[in-house]
Amino acid sequence: MTVPETAVTAAPVPAHFTMTEDEIRAKFPTRLRGYDLYRQIGSPKLVVAPMVDQSELAWRILSRRYNAQLCYTPMINAKLFTRANKGFFKDQWQTNAEDRPVIVQFCANDPELLLNAANLVVDGADAVDLNLGCPQNIAKRGHYGSYLMEDWDLISKLIRKLHENLEIPVTAKIRVFPDIAKTVEYAKMVEAAGAQMITVHGRLREQRGHKTGLADWAKIRAVKEAVSVPVFANGNILYFEDIQRCIEETGVDGVMSAETNLYNPALFSGKVLPTWQLATEYLEICRDVPTRPQFIRGHLFKLFRNSLPIHTDLRQKLVAAETLDDYEQVTKDIKARLIEEATACDPPFDPDHVESDEHGYRNSKRHKVEAV
Ligand SMILES: Cc1cc2nc3c(=O)[nH]c(=O)nc-3n(C[C@H](O)[C@H](O)[C@H](O)COP(=O)(O)O)c2cc1C
Repeated sequence: MTVPETAVTAAPVPAHFTMTEDEIRAKFPTRLRGYDLYRQIGSPKLVVAPMVDQSELAWRILSRRYNAQLCYTPMINAKLFTRANKGFFKDQWQTNAEDRPVIVQFCANDPELLLNAANLVVDGADAVDLNLGCPQNIAKRGHYGSYLMEDWDLISKLIRKLHENLEIPVTAKIRVFPDIAKTVEYAKMVEAAGAQMITVHGRLREQRGHKTGLADWAKIRAVKEAVSVPVFANGNILYFEDIQRCIEETGVDGVMSAETNLYNPALFSGKVLPTWQLATEYLEICRDVPTRPQFIRGHLFKLFRNSLPIHTDLRQKLVAAETLDDYEQVTKDIKARLIEEATACDPPFDPDHVESDEHGYRNSKRHKVEAV
């Protein structure tokens, strides 16, 4: 039988693929792939994003109490993450028995260093993720994150190195290109290299800071339709209802949240809780789980973001706070102010009937929600 001229020819196998898929399966017979991995970790639909200085262990514990089904660690720089660099190692990789499933995220541009770093977390993690999305200048200088998006060969080598050598699966978190077809080809390349789950942040590298704007769910949908591994959608989740809308519009397996999770760690539970209550609970966790003051301060600023511009004296107090006692005191003070405000509110504030502004943001009286 002759092959029709239009037949699609298989893409050539890159030279850096030193093993076939069968050989890799034989080398790691129990390591799970794609949907088997996804099911093994509980088919997570609600995912806390990797966040430098903010998705630390204490925050992951809090988020899980409110329905987060999978959490990513903050990005760790693979080059610095060695047993010899003890301070950095201990500081960056904190986990405990409650902290599963968890995916440890690395940034890297050297396959060997990435493998060395990844090998140090295999006992406590469900997978290792490669950060291909960071758009910050520090990533440009260090040549990692989204600044690898032009170097597909290097990306493929990084992922493949783990796929051929690491005892646990490798996953990747990507951004999108302006062109939908290129985005799909990119995701397929990431999959072919060995990524067993892919998170698509539906924004371009240029969409950061004041240019952040909206994520493009159409591109996420296109990736989901093109690859065979589970896909998480990232971007545009502001409220609980957005989760289902995103799943329906993109067909993804789960939804990842970063900023909204920081403002409302109970997001995935659908509950609207007073921010001081969430802050109090977080600080209680920090009593048991040593957490750097800079992380705690960052969380309290985000949780109380609507109250601090009004209660500027407490903002100053929060800036000056250094110890857990100080943070607890600020939280108690904010709680007292907010309860006082809510009591004075006439008619009483109803969190289930919050008016939206013309953009759909439910933030006009948000500081009162914090007091309910
Ligand atoms: C404080 C903060 C830290 C972040 N750190 C990381 C990181 O370590 N690794 C990463 O891949 N993305 C990081 N991101 C990006 C988020 O994971 C996510 O892709 C982005 O914020 C879009 O999701 P969102 O619309 O839900 O905020 C960070 C975002 C924030 C707000």
